[in-house]
Amino acid sequence: MPHGRYYWLCCLCLFAFLGGAHHNEPAMIPLGAEEGIQHPLAFSSSWQILGPFQIGTREATWGSDPLEFIGGFRKLEYEEGAQYRSSIGTNGAVKWSLLEADTIETDTVGSSASLSLNFPHVNWTFFRGVYGWAALQYQAWARGEIFVSADRAQTVIIYTDYVLEFWIDDTHYFGGDFYAFRRSPLVIALKPGAHRIDVRLVRDVRAMGGVSEPSINIKLDAKLASGSLELANDGILMADVVNETLASEWASVTVRNSGSQDIEVVDIECSNEWTSVDFQNTEKFIVSAGQTRPIPFRVLSQRPRYSSLDIIIQHKLNNIAGNPSILAVSELFTKRSIYHPHKITFLHPGGVVSYAILRPPSENASYHSNQKRPFPILLQLHGAGLEADSDLVTHALDSLPDLCAWVLFPTGVTPWSGDDWHNWGFADVEAAVAAVPHWIKAVQWKGADLDTDRWLVSGHSNGGQGTWYTLTHKPDRIIGAAPVSGYTSIQNYVPYELWQPMDPRQFAILGSSMNSYRHELLVENCKGIRILQQHGEDDDNVPAYHSRLMCQLLYQANSSSEYFELSGQGHWFDGVMTTKHLRKFYEEQVKSTTNPVETLEAFSIVVANPGDMGFKGGIRVTQLEIPGQYGRIDVSFNTTSSAYAFKTSNVLSFEVQSSLMRFPYTVIDQTDVEVTSDSSKPPPRHIEFWRASARGWQAGRLAEPGVLHRHGRQLGALDAIMRTKGHFTIRHHNGDTSSIALQISRNLFQYFSADSAIVNLEFDGDDGSGNIFTIAIGKRVCPGLDSNFPIHLEGSSLVIRDSEGHLQRYEGSNGLAAIFLRPLEDEKLELVVWGIDKDSLVLAARLVPMLTGVGQPDFIVLSGSCRWKGAGGAVAMGFFDHSWNVTKTSFFT
Ligand SMILES: *[C@@H]1O[C@H](CO)[C@@H](O)[C@H](O)[C@H]1NC(C)=O
Ligand SMILES: *[C@@H]1O[C@H](CO)[C@@H](O)[C@H](O)[C@H]1NC(C)=O
Ligand SMILES: *[C@@H]1O[C@H](CO)[C@@H](O)[C@H](O)[C@H]1NC(C)=O
Ligand SMILES: *[C@@H]1O[C@H](CO)[C@@H](O)[C@H](O)[C@H]1NC(C)=O
Ligand SMILES: *[C@@H]1O[C@H](CO)[C@@H](O)[C@H](O)[C@H]1NC(C)=O
Ligand SMILES: *[C@@H]1O[C@H](CO)[C@@H](O)[C@H](O)[C@H]1NC(C)=O
Repeated sequence: MPHGRYYWLCCLCLFAFLGGAHHNEPAMIPLGAEEGIQHPLAFSSSWQILGPFQIGTREATWGSDPLEFIGGFRKLEYEEGAQYRSSIGTNGAVKWSLLEADTIETDTVGSSASLSLNFPHVNWTFFRGVYGWAALQYQAWARGEIFVSADRAQTVIIYTDYVLEFWIDDTHYFGGDFYAFRRSPLVIALKPGAHRIDVRLVRDVRAMGGVSEPSINIKLDAKLASGSLELANDGILMADVVNETLASEWASVTVRNSGSQDIEVVDIECSNEWTSVDFQNTEKFIVSAGQTRPIPFRVLSQRPRYSSLDIIIQHKLNNIAGNPSILAVSELFTKRSIYHPHKITFLHPGGVVSYAILRPPSENASYHSNQKRPFPILLQLHGAGLEADSDLVTHALDSLPDLCAWVLFPTGVTPWSGDDWHNWGFADVEAAVAAVPHWIKAVQWKGADLDTDRWLVSGHSNGGQGTWYTLTHKPDRIIGAAPVSGYTSIQNYVPYELWQPMDPRQFAILGSSMNSYRHELLVENCKGIRILQQHGEDDDNVPAYHSRLMCQLLYQANSSSEYFELSGQGHWFDGVMTTKHLRKFYEEQVKSTTNPVETLEAFSIVVANPGDMGFKGGIRVTQLEIPGQYGRIDVSFNTTSSAYAFKTSNVLSFEVQSSLMRFPYTVIDQTDVEVTSDSSKPPPRHIEFWRASARGWQAGRLAEPGVLHRHGRQLGALDAIMRTKGHFTIRHHNGDTSSIALQISRNLFQYFSADSAIVNLEFDGDDGSGNIFTIAIGKRVCPGLDSNFPIHLEGSSLVIRDSEGHLQRYEGSNGLAAIFLRPLEDEKLELVVWGIDKDSLVLAARLVPMLTGVGQPDFIVLSGSCRWKGAGGAVAMGFFDHSWNVTKTSFFT
């Protein structure tokens, strides 16, 4: 959790303000109206509250709202004394209460409301004593109004800080801004008069703290918008200028279409004579109505001659002839010394421009060190809620100015590093590292060389967890790791107690979907790598338990770590990343000459998902037999025969660096396996092995890549969709599917800074180069590429072929909905989001990856009862294997 977040005062429900007047309606006073000042929008100051109800860690995505059992909060009206069943209320019930907003601010361009609520009549201390931090998470609803006093409809953007879900009048939005990124607000046209706002409040210990009173603090902020294309934030994302050179060529501006018609960005031009820009629009660049999109471009000359970059965006209504309108934006260059931490930019594989902070080796390090080999990368991964260009991050290593390393502070794309440095966030780390050689060329660097394959990695808090992730998934690149105040896994951080009850098989499937992020189960991959752990003994944000546990597990894996627990210290203090031990560790490890591949004699590889696992000791698992269950290879080196022997479990194929092989035999699962080498050709870099069920292990490929063979970037649970190359495309069929497409697009940009093009299948067929979302209702699901795919629609029933070839049939009633991956060519994926009708489509759409820890497997079939039963209401869920067949571990009712 971001430190310093839990100081909010508890704010009691202020019954005193009521005066008995407005029991059935929130008080509505358009502030300023009486003075004749035009205040077009105003939030109500009085809000109706109903809660609290139980909710599990990151469970809200599955529904799990007890009020849905009686039709949902939206169907209820305030009624004093009315009781509603709640497992955490006194007498098993809760009542309505009224709350005055903390602050309401209203001016000529908008209005904002801050609410702060708490439920002091619940004995949270006792509840926490039994269920731990899980007990400090709950859900509730708040109802207020926004009043439009203008005489015609207003286009408004609404920011929803710390809110996951809300309704405005009769429209549901699963796409609040849970971390207050303010990247992608809702765009809405509001008619004159009062509009009801129902806000679902969900408390989350990771985002809101676990120490003092469990309050919820949210802010709603409505602002008038232009109704056309506008800048979503001021300025241009671009690199700093060092040595008279723009450090990288990539830049981007983010625009929002607050109008009601789609807008085409026709071109981007630069109004400075010294350079021009390249807007690579091979396809039409459409910003759909209500959408926010980043526009990437390259600055062609990196030698700025003026103090700013000035850009003109030409745009026009889509499919309507006419002269383009223009939108101008400019940004002053930030000049820095080449040796100081500065901003470099690059393209994330998802097609968005991202940045990292680079600190090249100092002159002293470059010229006076007697180290002749290229310097390694020192990665510093930031904690949750921190922007990588904040001083807290970029100056964390200032007291070590002459380190023989290239220090890189990646962002992971967002302050929450996208998905906690996992799939999307880690891709950003890799792209940042790959950008440094371009920087070296662009600035004509003459200092120390760089070795992009040797990483020393460290990080704090969520970055400490990211350090474990890097260690356990890319061990062959790591020459040392220092996880500081890090947590082991989201499940260990805030326990998954208090989810709605469900079949333990279902719970196991949710858990399995997050196997790759359980670092406590992957510790064996760390063997042979020097690790230094540090944790404050009094850390009340990430308890020291996490580091103590990893230290013990490393010991039991015949590995080791140096563990420093700092007595009297909490989660963060000045200099936390440069304590005496850490300084010594960095200084020693940047000079390390060990080769992680050659130092190991006996070791194991544990793999949750081959899609995100690199090499360990020169060996990489490429397929599991049963996805959703860990696979492992125990490797031993026979000194007599000087050859490796492999013992496998749940592994279907793996590859070995051929320099490590002895020909003509190797031993796999106690059997000699022939490895022929064609002496007329140089050996391939890697030799692959696969296991045929009847014949056992053999050298060669399991299957040729193709749409029928699930491989590479397609592997993993539902979040494999995030491994896109190029921006996403969201396809819909008009009507209700188009509003869901827009919402998914907003969420992708809000939570991952991921870009998507929205495509109407009725008109347009351009799918771009990235992964695809298909949004469909009823019978309109276009067939996938694989005609033998195990999930299909028959009339309005959904039919799934299980692992034994039996057909499981689900009638299209009771709010049936489904979300599942499907293969496309070239390792691409399609995520089908389907509902039998509009209301059930919403259930499936909320499971599109957004927050971490939700646990979506490869396919999920939902019933309407998920609204209150959560995942327990799912009727089928599970995984696909390497041939896109359903695994036998999947769940069907
Ligand atoms: C809450 O529970 C704690 C622990 O059981 C108890 O000590 C305390 O008195 C309770 N507080 C109230 C207000 O009932
Ligand atoms: C380089 O190191 C020397 C001695 O260690 C120190 O006196 C000098 O100030 C350093 N130079 C820079 C530019 O940091
Ligand atoms: C800065 O650029 C110049 C060429 O313009 C080059 O000669 C010089 O070495 C560069 N400085 C550094 C520190 O790389
Ligand atoms: C640890 O090493 C001991 C002694 O070499 C060995 O018996 C044991 O199997 C090893 N355990 C693991 C988990 O590698
Ligand atoms: C090591 O290799 C030798 C020679 O091939 C073989 O006889 C022996 O059984 C192997 N040892 C183990 C522990 O596999
Ligand atoms: C996948 O399932 C189909 C139908 O049950 C079966 O014919 C096929 O052999 C299976 N594929 C593999 C690789 O097991």
